[in-house]
Amino acid sequence: MRRAARFVLVLLAVLALVTVAAWWVLARTTKAWWESDLAMRSKLAVNSARVGLTRGWPDDRATVGRALEDITRDSRILGAAACLPDGELLAATSDYPLGFTCALVAEHAGRAGGRGFTMAPEDSLHLTATPLEGEGGVLGTVVLVHDLGYVDQRDAATRQVLFGGFFVLALAAAVATLLAARFAWKGWTLELQRALLGEASTEFQPMVRDVRALVDRLVNEREGEARGGPWDPARLKATLTRHLQGERVVVLANREPYIHERGEGGVKVVHPASGLVTALEPVMRACSGTWVAHGSGSADRDTVDAKDRVRVPPGEESYLLRRVWLTEEEEAGYYYGFSNEGLWPLCHVAHARPVFRSSDWETYVAVNRRFAGAVCEEVDSDEPIVLVQDYHFALAPRMIRERLPRATILTFWHIPWPNAERFGICPWRDELLSGLLGSSIIGFHTQQHCNNFIDAVDAFMESRIDREARAVVQQGRKTLVRPYPISIEWPVRWLHDVPGVAECRKAIRGELGLGADALLGVGIDRLDYTKGVEERLAAVDELLARFPEFRGRFTFIQLAAPSRMKITRYRELNERVEQLAAEINARWGTPGWRPVVLLRDHHEPQTVFRYYRAADLCYVSSLHDGMNLVAKEFVAARDDEQGVLLLSQFTGAARDLTEALVVNPYDLRQASDALAAALRMSPEEQRERMRAMRRLVSEFNVYRWAGRMLVDAAELRRRERLTGRLTPLSPLTGVS
Ligand code: G6P
Repeated sequence: MRRAARFVLVLLAVLALVTVAAWWVLARTTKAWWESDLAMRSKLAVNSARVGLTRGWPDDRATVGRALEDITRDSRILGAAACLPDGELLAATSDYPLGFTCALVAEHAGRAGGRGFTMAPEDSLHLTATPLEGEGGVLGTVVLVHDLGYVDQRDAATRQVLFGGFFVLALAAAVATLLAARFAWKGWTLELQRALLGEASTEFQPMVRDVRALVDRLVNEREGEARGGPWDPARLKATLTRHLQGERVVVLANREPYIHERGEGGVKVVHPASGLVTALEPVMRACSGTWVAHGSGSADRDTVDAKDRVRVPPGEESYLLRRVWLTEEEEAGYYYGFSNEGLWPLCHVAHARPVFRSSDWETYVAVNRRFAGAVCEEVDSDEPIVLVQDYHFALAPRMIRERLPRATILTFWHIPWPNAERFGICPWRDELLSGLLGSSIIGFHTQQHCNNFIDAVDAFMESRIDREARAVVQQGRKTLVRPYPISIEWPVRWLHDVPGVAECRKAIRGELGLGADALLGVGIDRLDYTKGVEERLAAVDELLARFPEFRGRFTFIQLAAPSRMKITRYRELNERVEQLAAEINARWGTPGWRPVVLLRDHHEPQTVFRYYRAADLCYVSSLHDGMNLVAKEFVAARDDEQGVLLLSQFTGAARDLTEALVVNPYDLRQASDALAAALRMSPEEQRERMRAMRRLVSEFNVYRWAGRMLVDAAELRRRERLTGRLTPLSPLTGVS
């Protein structure tokens, strides 16, 4: 039906064009027609008055004048004048406009070449200049002034008929097309139904098999899901045991889940602000195994054993953290350089130019090899399950595969994957793709990112794309490319230690010096230019400018964890955000009220969840984000089913959380409207929206995310074993 509507629109546009063209042609033709008609009628009028005119010509002006008056009895002729050949006026009727002198008229008449002409285009007066023939030749010219107002009226009538016709025709065409489309759709559906029921052999026969397979798969999945119960740590563990013989899982991720930092009061454990850690840590708790990461804390070396391992989580030890040490140069080239100044801006549409330095690339290759080596040291079979995480390790999958050809390597890319054209600017695009294709499965948050990845492989690599299996095949080895939208644990463990909503509301308002009924918005991010923090504060500014009712009542609190501060772009962002907050406060603030509270510091998860619970709204305004787990955490925190989520349309989360107020963060008018709508939303509507989102996040939690990947991996492994396709790989080109 949507196609039919589009067709109708095109049809209407064509009809409109045809109508305008027809009107234009008609207007021009009628004009030409009227002009020659005038000339002819003038000739007739002059001929009929010829006797009177010639009798008085040129000495008896009164006789000529009377003859001219006779001509103007015709109501469409307003005035007449007689001009001598030398341009002198012989006689004129009383209504003749004397500004139209004989000389001027002769000039225009010459240009009109015998047709009617206008002297004053703004009114509807037309003139004709008709030669008066005498016995001895041309005696002079008779000028007639015609009123063509009736022509304009006819013109307007024609236009009305034409446009009326267009309207009727357009309506008829639209109705006919929509009816035809509806009948065709009905017929199509009936025929497909009959084909599916086996009642008839129709032209849809070739599709029937595919439709049945799809239906079977959906039904099986649904039944399987229902049988398995909700996804939780126990079910994930059981899945691992059932499908993968309880293999130990090794995770490779740059960021470690627990950072030991030396402080004034001794060593403390810091939980980093990272969506990746938020998602992966509960999975590791459930699966046990080893997490290989960069040891970045100042007290990290003091807390590991001789093999650089430490058991975590502190106090509830259930898996191993293996730390890999990097020199300052390695960190500068691999982490700050190639990962965060090259790949990060390459993959995010956030208007930051990627920087690609050869020295960074070389360090990236070397560090990937070192981490891949550490993974191989941590596995305890030649068929381990390795979960490679994110853009820091694009080369590691192939490096691991070279040493462990039978490994099941699941790579998950936590950030967006750009389109092929954009990705193609990276000088080492082929090596990155080749490295990733060492994986058994590559996962992205959305189908769009999968498509972009496949397009890039198609454009730059020698391989076969198996679109049906959604896979890339290289030298007989298959890499599945699938969307696995990531999520959070459910229920969130941090919430056990956080007071209820009412208590958090009261406490936070008290800490900020706000009244009990103050309206509170919250934003929680690492200070990263992809998060749209500037746009978010600008939207608050716009809200206060456009909706004075919120001045003095609404406070927006931004928790911003400083991040990647050795990179200039991030340092500049910190300054700009600070300045913007100060400007907004100076513009709207009063002695007792600051509209923006900026807390630029690292906040531990319990603190973050207190703010989620205290807030009336949470605004996630990312300019581009693979998923964004802040949005899902806010939903998880609101067990009171209140609070409104404003969510950027450029996040992966916006595809799942459709009950959020989805906005374009660049559109400040729209964003401020949404802020106002959120602040005015009734508790019933808040409940309805929040309930739906909570249902979704609780069902599609991170255990399900990991479970589905592991089940797909197990299936792939089973097939590879059956077909004996576990062939070794060729070495990675250009990466030695
Ligand atoms: C994003 C990335 C993660 C990263 C996190 C924090 O979510 O996808 O891989 O851990 O940002 O960044 P950081 O550089 O501090 O680890």
